[in-house]
Amino acid sequence: MDHGLISPVKNAQEIALLREAARWSAEAHRELMWQAPQGATEKGIAAQLEGFLRQRGSSDTAYPTIVGAGERALILHAEPTERRAVDGELVLVDAGGKAGGYCADITRTWPAGDRFSDKQRILYEVVLRAQKSAIRAVRPGVTLLDLHEGVKRDLLEGLRRQNWLKRGEEDRLREFYPHKTSHWLGRLVHDPCAQTNAAGEPLRLEPGMVFTIEPGLYFEGLGVRIEDDILVTDTGCEVLSSAAPKEVEEVQEARAAARRRSSKSR
Ligand code: GLY
Ligand code: MN
Ligand code: MN
Repeated sequence: MDHGLISPVKNAQEIALLREAARWSAEAHRELMWQAPQGATEKGIAAQLEGFLRQRGSSDTAYPTIVGAGERALILHAEPTERRAVDGELVLVDAGGKAGGYCADITRTWPAGDRFSDKQRILYEVVLRAQKSAIRAVRPGVTLLDLHEGVKRDLLEGLRRQNWLKRGEEDRLREFYPHKTSHWLGRLVHDPCAQTNAAGEPLRLEPGMVFTIEPGLYFEGLGVRIEDDILVTDTGCEVLSSAAPKEVEEVQEARAAARRRSSKSR
């Protein structure tokens, strides 16, 4: 399976470092969600997250931190600006640290205030359901393409259920989900491992492979992406970034706590 590229199957030492990078980064995302004040700027949010990463031992980010508030969440690689994230908006944070040279890559999307609006929540839950069902599908033998096709089916079904996409408009999913579901993770955030075997077929997952699952929807001014780091095991997978909250109730609880903290310190 080595075609002169980096192997997507990581050894025990590499896995230990990937696990550590993902744990540090997931904890930093969690702390950010609990603490980022409503009205913070994108740059302020990025700086706070990177501070939490440094406190855990990650002196470097795996890639430039992405923070998009409001309609800027629609920009896939939004560079943080002085724009403030205000109540009623979503904030998309895509950030990861490094441990021993190995990368994490995590995205969470949360309300700047303490609750999702009805429409934000519906869109978020469509993405979350697709992401969790892709995670449940991971096991040796499955391909990243299978996961991507499953995510597209789930996103389509979710959009159709809301009548946000009509029958016959399946091709329009590309407008709302313009990127892939997965990439390999290693010393580089997009680790340049093979995608296919010598016969040109998509690689089948094997224990020890590490990659992301990151569905998103970018729809009518709202941007939602949820990204976790996944290690394939003998029977399924381990979600290396599970310390970062993503269930609606947990996220809202964190944001309500952040609001209480910031009103106390005023
Ligand atoms: N942070 C870049 C990506 O998610 O692929
Ligand atoms: Mn990624
Ligand atoms: Mn990412």
